[in-house]
Amino acid sequence: MTPAVSDSDLDAVSSLQVTGAGPARGLLQVPGDKSISHRAVLMAAMAHGPTVITGLSMGQDVTHTLGAVRQFGVSVDHAGDGRVRVEGPIRHEPADVLDHGNAGTGIRLTAGVCAGIDGVSVLTGDRFLRRRPMDRIAEPLRMMGATVDGRERGRLAPLVIRGGGLTGITYSPKQASAQVKSALLLAGLSAAGPTTVEEVHPTRRHTEEMLAQFGGRVRVDGNRVTVEPGDLTGTEVVVPGDPSQAAFWAVAALLAPEHGEVVVENLYTGFGRSDFVNVLERMGADIDFDLTTGTLTVKASRLRAVDLTAEDIPGIVDEVPALAMAAAVAEGTTVISGAGELRAKESDRIASTTRLLRAFGVQVSETEDGMVIEGGSRLRAGRVDSHGDHRIAMTAAVAAACVEGATVIDGWDSVATSYPRFAADLVRLTGASAQPGA
Ligand code: S3P
Repeated sequence: MTPAVSDSDLDAVSSLQVTGAGPARGLLQVPGDKSISHRAVLMAAMAHGPTVITGLSMGQDVTHTLGAVRQFGVSVDHAGDGRVRVEGPIRHEPADVLDHGNAGTGIRLTAGVCAGIDGVSVLTGDRFLRRRPMDRIAEPLRMMGATVDGRERGRLAPLVIRGGGLTGITYSPKQASAQVKSALLLAGLSAAGPTTVEEVHPTRRHTEEMLAQFGGRVRVDGNRVTVEPGDLTGTEVVVPGDPSQAAFWAVAALLAPEHGEVVVENLYTGFGRSDFVNVLERMGADIDFDLTTGTLTVKASRLRAVDLTAEDIPGIVDEVPALAMAAAVAEGTTVISGAGELRAKESDRIASTTRLLRAFGVQVSETEDGMVIEGGSRLRAGRVDSHGDHRIAMTAAVAAACVEGATVIDGWDSVATSYPRFAADLVRLTGASAQPGA
């Protein structure tokens, strides 16, 4: 007999075996939004006076950001239940190396904060994060006057930043990236003169929204956002649920033609985070997102293929693996293009999503900036590697729950970066069984 394993033990296993039972049915709330959580912690640390945050993401990514702000001499009281009191402002350069684990948002936004501090900061992360491009923030922060050095001419972490004495700039990032925009806006708070970021494709606006909430002087004019230098003031932040995590459950309701029905409550309803709902609607899903309550309702539906192009990608940048799995069971051929940025995520998500689909028996081909997915597949159990990427692991888990037989997901522990107790929710909503994999 297999020994009983508790829900939280399943977060830490390196391989998870899921034996399928059917699509997801039920009501749930997902963890606090990760993007908002990072920003709340960093702005609370920069602000004068206390900030109380509730609903904070309890994943390892945000825990690393909390660890980082402690190094600035900021007081952090965290009961471990998503409620945290942070009392800024930042008192000094970091006492030690800032370890961001797997968190791209954590390291890039914190780099913006460090650029504004008169002193030296060293930022690093795990072996996956240390392979991800940092020149996208290093170059504009240098233009503002910070010294940024790192491996391969500052392209990769560890990064060493000597900050202070910044001047505001006007900058158009080469990529559609909320992380780049946010790093510059946070640095701009301590620059001389205004800092403006002009985006070609608009991205999530959490930094703009939260700067205003902390009393920052920020102006949004179409795709152009400007921050004026100035102090922030502590406040109360209630973090809503993370739409990107809800996307897995939406797809979990849709992978079989009947029986699936999921309701996810209390999600963030602002700009740029729920475009996956529109994509699923275009695919024929019976899906509704109530913008007044933040409740998402999804019911089993027959899906059809969709074309996703460069215009679509910034709004679904984190949901492509889950949407690709939905495309695998849809009727017709789905073509995803203009998604080259996915190669710079927690894994090369074009390659890892392609391998993920193949492991479930789907016919898929990889292109330079996307993939072509042959729909109508009957998914079959297999063995999948997450490549250290939580979103690949969670997509694999919802697919595994819907197929007959046992699927083993290697690199399962990556899920703890954003969604502790995901396996417990999977078991509850789908009736699948989950145990450590061999
Ligand atoms: C995020 C921005 C996106 C997204 C990431 C979170 C943020 O990254 O993929 O998960 O919180 O700003 P990019 O800015 O690199 O597109």
